[in-house]
Amino acid sequence: MRSTRRSLAARLTAAGAGLVLLLPAAACSAGDDDTGAARVEVFTWWAEGGEKAGLDALVSRFTADCPGQQFTDGVVAGGAGINAKQVLTARLAQDDPPDTFQVHAGAELTEHIDAGQVQDLTAEYDTWGLRQALPEGLVDDLTVNGKIYSVPANVHRANVVWINPQVLSDAGIHTTPKTITAFLRDLEKLRKSGIESPLALGRDWTQLMLLEAVLISKLGAEKFSGLFSGETSWSSSAVSAGVRDFAKLVSYSNADRDSMDWPDAERLLIDGKAGYQVMGDWEAADLEAKGFKAYDWFTFPGNGDVFQWLADSFVLAEGAPNPDGTKCWLKTVASAEGQGVFNAAKGSIPARTDAAGTGSASTAGFSSYQQSAMEDWKTATPVPSCAHGSACSQAWQNAVNSALSAYSTTHQNATTLHKALVAAATQFIKQERE
Ligand code: BGC
Repeated sequence: MRSTRRSLAARLTAAGAGLVLLLPAAACSAGDDDTGAARVEVFTWWAEGGEKAGLDALVSRFTADCPGQQFTDGVVAGGAGINAKQVLTARLAQDDPPDTFQVHAGAELTEHIDAGQVQDLTAEYDTWGLRQALPEGLVDDLTVNGKIYSVPANVHRANVVWINPQVLSDAGIHTTPKTITAFLRDLEKLRKSGIESPLALGRDWTQLMLLEAVLISKLGAEKFSGLFSGETSWSSSAVSAGVRDFAKLVSYSNADRDSMDWPDAERLLIDGKAGYQVMGDWEAADLEAKGFKAYDWFTFPGNGDVFQWLADSFVLAEGAPNPDGTKCWLKTVASAEGQGVFNAAKGSIPARTDAAGTGSASTAGFSSYQQSAMEDWKTATPVPSCAHGSACSQAWQNAVNSALSAYSTTHQNATTLHKALVAAATQFIKQERE
């Protein structure tokens, strides 16, 4: 169980006036619509591809499960919620909450709990039998001072490398690299074969995913997790060697990375302009939704059986205009049926252990990638993700993203980047202990 920490308001930077332009139309009105149906505004960043397909599947279930309630889409596009989280912060500060919002289980959720922005769902957990249906460790990660405030919809894996097998085979690459050194060798081989930017990469948070995967290889599961709990030093030579490897990997990526979201980088892979992309496993569903079925994947070199997890969850916002309708949404998200249809389309695996695709239930409708992830989740060693809120606070993630952006855009050296990472860790670990 986690203890409460200091308030979100103190940690997040105030959202700028420009954000007003990003506010979705749904933000301006709530409650009943013209037909008298009660509306539930669901705030996510699932705007296209596999993400929208997942949301649509959940909405169909909600419409069937909750007569008289109407879904209102509060989507704000941008991978990993990079824009949505800023809009949400601004709306919460203005007392204009959506009924429910998407939030990562772990540190990110804890910040909303500490700030009093989400309502206690402990009674619903008991009524809906969720304590039995969800893995104990996950319920523990969602619990603060004995109470539970969100319903997890899925489990995603972050530390995956997606490949375009044709591009690799054209360059004579037929094996999976098991170490970062071997990976760098293959990247060089691809470059020599004429693929100028063999590693497709996007903006800041996608670079953080690459850095985290490298650090898992360098440190192993336990020490990697310790980076965020304060038990592992960021100043060590292992971390600095990791940062140097990260820098080498970045040198094989596209120069326009800082202006790209993850689907733009994914496009380079689909079009055969890159051979590899490090991305979470929403990519499998997205590639399928975009008609590119000839993809393959492997766990990031050197990560062994580590499963870097993250989970999307939904909350009942404090001050939600339609709490009853929202509870019906949450019940759908929590249900075995809801998790079955949602995850099959989203590329993740159900958080419940009794939903379709889990236990002895049928895996029909789940891709072969998802089936392998389900197997891995049962036995692999879990570590959290900073880029996706399970390991670190939003403010810490913002600081690391800024350091990565500065590194990438101003062509700093690895030592400068390492120093910035150490400074961020020192500041946020100290704050969390206060
Ligand atoms: C979310 C996923 C989403 C991904 C890319 C992650 O932070 O947990 O649901 O697909 O971002 O937008």
